[in-house]
Amino acid sequence: MFDSYNRRINYLRISVTDRCNLRCTYCMPAEGISLMQHSDILSFEEIMEVVDAAIVLGIDKIRITGGEPLVRKGIVDLVKMIASKKAIVDLGMTTNGQLLEKYAQPLKDVGLHRINISLDTLNPEKYSQITRGGKIDAVLHGISASVEAGLSPVKINCVIQKSPTEPDALEVAEYGLKHGLKVRFIRQMDLEKGEFYIVDGGSGGDCATCNRLRLTANGMIKPCLFNDVEYSIRQLGVAKALQSALGNKPSCGTVNRHGEFYNIGG
Ligand code: 5AD
Ligand code: SF4
Repeated sequence: MFDSYNRRINYLRISVTDRCNLRCTYCMPAEGISLMQHSDILSFEEIMEVVDAAIVLGIDKIRITGGEPLVRKGIVDLVKMIASKKAIVDLGMTTNGQLLEKYAQPLKDVGLHRINISLDTLNPEKYSQITRGGKIDAVLHGISASVEAGLSPVKINCVIQKSPTEPDALEVAEYGLKHGLKVRFIRQMDLEKGEFYIVDGGSGGDCATCNRLRLTANGMIKPCLFNDVEYSIRQLGVAKALQSALGNKPSCGTVNRHGEFYNIGG
């Protein structure tokens, strides 16, 4: 499918939950967030309805995000359902890695291809401070488990303040080099202030070649992360919501006053 600026849209990012087992300083306020009601969160059946409709429109690449996708009950079953779709040739997940040691192999077994793991520093205290309580050992074990399980590629997402030559970024880069993992540096963004950047070493943030749509955990199709526009699958029906998002995908991002990363999945 093509949008009105003739960009071919083949990539759907699905946020499966707004919940997270961490509270990264750049993502969530310390006191946490007002969580969606359980009844607002899409069921697996509803998510699969969107997947099927998206496939008909030409989606062949899917990424599962959150919040933290691994805290969603039954996540391996959902990955299995999506992986069973022949049309999906590329299936990935973005995770903070806290629960990954246990999940890497089961995810690979049901058909997950690739995984992106967030790691902003190698300093255990600093990691715990940025994530407000995360355990760096859990992430590092999760990374090893992903490599051993054969997930490929295993990539590291490293949020930086300004430059990939900051001390923490350099350490993460060295860690990546040592373990043969690609590191993507992501400048810290502020959606509300309209501050967003092209992701170095990745495809995000480049409006002219943007190929994505997003599905939020409560059933909104969003054509752009850096914009407030969204279409409810429950109100409009799946087909109409997808078509509307496609037809109204902006040429370039501006400001998102309501959305947060934990909700729309970065
Ligand atoms: N700026 C940039 N990236 C962010 N993420 C979350 N919040 C922000 C932000 N304010 C990204 C991180 C993390 C992923 C899940 O979302 O890269 O790895
Ligand atoms: Fe959770 Fe990811 Fe947000 Fe950190 S950045 S609080 S791990 S959703």
